[in-house]
Amino acid sequence: MRLMRLFAVALAASWCFMAPVVAKDGSPIYTYETQFHPKLAKNGMVVSRDKYASEAGLEILKEGGNAVDAAVATLFSLAVTLPQAGNIGGGGFMMIYLKDQDKTIALDYREIAPKAAFRDMYLNKDGSVDNNRVRFTLKGSGVPGTVMGLTEALSKYGTLPLKQVMAPAIRLAEQGFPMTWSLNETLKEYKDRLQADPAAKKYFYKADGSVYAPGEIFRQPVLAKTLKTIAEKGADGFYKGWVADALVKTMEEGGGLITHEDLNTYKTFTRKPIIGTYRGYKIATMPPPSSGGVNLIEMLNVLENWPMKSYGLNSAAYIHRLVETMKYAYADRSKFLGDPAFYDVPVKELTSKKYAKSIYNLIDPNKATPSSKIGPAKKLPYESHETTQTSVMDKYGNMVSNTYTLNYSYGNGHAVMGAGFLLNNEMDDFSAKPGVPNGFGLLGGQANSVEAGKRPLSSMTPTFIFKPNGEPYIATGSPGGSTIITTVLQVVLNTIDFGYNPAAAVSVPRVHHQWYPDRIYMEPGLSVDTRRILVGMGHHVKINSEDSWDQVLGEAQTLMRGPNHIIMGAADPRRPGAYAAGF
Ligand code: DON
Repeated sequence: MRLMRLFAVALAASWCFMAPVVAKDGSPIYTYETQFHPKLAKNGMVVSRDKYASEAGLEILKEGGNAVDAAVATLFSLAVTLPQAGNIGGGGFMMIYLKDQDKTIALDYREIAPKAAFRDMYLNKDGSVDNNRVRFTLKGSGVPGTVMGLTEALSKYGTLPLKQVMAPAIRLAEQGFPMTWSLNETLKEYKDRLQADPAAKKYFYKADGSVYAPGEIFRQPVLAKTLKTIAEKGADGFYKGWVADALVKTMEEGGGLITHEDLNTYKTFTRKPIIGTYRGYKIATMPPPSSGGVNLIEMLNVLENWPMKSYGLNSAAYIHRLVETMKYAYADRSKFLGDPAFYDVPVKELTSKKYAKSIYNLIDPNKATPSSKIGPAKKLPYESHETTQTSVMDKYGNMVSNTYTLNYSYGNGHAVMGAGFLLNNEMDDFSAKPGVPNGFGLLGGQANSVEAGKRPLSSMTPTFIFKPNGEPYIATGSPGGSTIITTVLQVVLNTIDFGYNPAAAVSVPRVHHQWYPDRIYMEPGLSVDTRRILVGMGHHVKINSEDSWDQVLGEAQTLMRGPNHIIMGAADPRRPGAYAAGF
């Protein structure tokens, strides 16, 4: 897997070459040009992490479905063909833009902490955090929201019946599909963890414990039965009846917390999207319990104060401003963001241009400020006032941007015996103890402490961009834990500041800083000269190549509405198997 990712990055880097460009004032600047072209379509396009799933969405578009119909078909299919992240046992966020009403909806189907959860539930007697308990046992699972979210999106905003939209997923599970290289690789990589769970071992491996080879037909009849029940009964097919019984039995036998009451009372939220602007473009993105939207707008507001384009993409001057801004946003994240039902998140203040200006004023354009000198805002201005990304556009101008997840690849590695699907370990997105980093190195405090019925803070940032004239323009988003927000940020900059098409915008190398640890994570492909200048300014630089979650920074499946309403789409080249399907 590691090798594959590195290969993907090298490939991404080789697609780009440096071309000198002269700035308005005559000074030479450098930008990336790309030889890589996006896929084009007139009637609709789906881009997701998996070819079978994108084609499932395309099938529904061809049957006359709209973007929501196609998104739901793709997302149920990903639960079959990309079980490392596609899911019915997890949760996520779906942004929907309805062209005829010019309306953006932010659907929150994030997992919630079961009723039996409590603040110190992941602490050992000595007060240390038991990472194994929260990440790899059934106690780490939040109440899944995906089935409620997808069925609700379809019934409110789709046009086709659930049975029709779920048919491709059921077919893929029942009749099987040729094992993909990517799934084969990760099933090998995660073999020890998955085979320690009898249900996961049974559903994802051959009887002798070996992995299906690429190209061999991989069938999931038990999952097919679960999906058929959902197709017939809607959300009740999952939250009530035999599937719910199987899930609760798995919990009872394995020490998990989720009960029938938790399943019966699970609710989605239709939230007001976070709206911001960047150089006249409107950005609509995900509100809390995601931190992504607030942090994205906060960073864009700061960056708008500089002529970012004139520095040249990924020059030292450019990256310096980017990462200094990231430090302030992630520091604020650690203190002010959590589930709005439990904590009063100061959204207006954090996303105000005035507050951004105060951050801008603190940033030295020539010198890095150590993270230890940066903290969450002391005073905010008073204003009266392994996850996966799927993007879809249809010929009507509707858009969907969906990010959903089990948290880690294959969640906590436990499957529901008798129902064939994996469970999330989303409880690790809570701050188990103030000051102790979670699995993505993120810090948090009271705003994101564990509480029954609460949604853990997320970084998932499904996002739309609208042109200054209001026309729908871009649908994007990314997986990658803490690196999601900075990935989406760079797609916004690459498209708006540099005018890149989606293929170029997603393939150029990215950087990431999250306040702590105090270092710039840098993808291979950035110049050694740039790195040297940044180190000279006081930055600590780490080239991604060693750890597992941060080898590549995100994976931004992106669609753009181009000239004459042509839909342009590109699968991010960083991970294998991603695919844009359109017609
Ligand atoms: O909601 C979140 O922010 C995390 N659970 C996302 C995890 C993730 O992106 C892992 N994938 N690469």
